[in-house]
Amino acid sequence: MTGIFYGSTTGTTEALARDIAARLGVGAKDVHDVGTASADQVRGYDCLLLGSSTWGDGELQDDWYDFLDALQKEDLSGKTVALFGCGDGQSYPDTFCDAIGTIYEALDTTGCRFVGAYVPEGYASTGSKACRDGQFVGLAIDELNEGDRTEERLAQWVEAVKNARP
Ligand SMILES: Cc1cc2nc3c(=O)[nH]c(=O)nc-3n(C[C@H](O)[C@H](O)[C@H](O)COP(=O)(O)O)c2cc1C
Repeated sequence: MTGIFYGSTTGTTEALARDIAARLGVGAKDVHDVGTASADQVRGYDCLLLGSSTWGDGELQDDWYDFLDALQKEDLSGKTVALFGCGDGQSYPDTFCDAIGTIYEALDTTGCRFVGAYVPEGYASTGSKACRDGQFVGLAIDELNEGDRTEERLAQWVEAVKNARP
């Protein structure tokens, strides 16, 4: 069972979350806004897709702060986790999609299993906390500057997640 949890201020990451849900056959009731969801809702899922845009200078989307604190207290061991997010690599080349990296770091010691990392290709910016050992640890989307690459990036990532899901 897959649950999608997203934080989105202007709707970009929400639209991405809904697109991912449609591609993976995840129903609307399993797509949650972290601004209103409660972290214990993750208990019903063995696969979590977590999405955040990046704000400020490499910060989490606002609603994620409380949710991430609560999520770290949940038992995530054995759960499959895939991360995604939206950013603006042109205006924020040094903190592009950093929120993905922040969530990754916060959950790294919880015993969850991350899937969906990939080698970035065609990105103007990889100056990002989400980029580790030459790989993005989650799907990084730049609708503002690289919207023409979104479909290809999304399709590849969804395929990888589909194959890695329990
Ligand atoms: C004030 C401000 C700060 C931002 N900071 C970053 C940033 O540090 N890194 C980044 O990749 N994008 C940054 N962005 C771009 C947003 O992440 C981008 O517009 C995203 O698509 C918003 O998604 P949302 O509507 O789901 O919140 C910033 C945008 C604004 C307006």
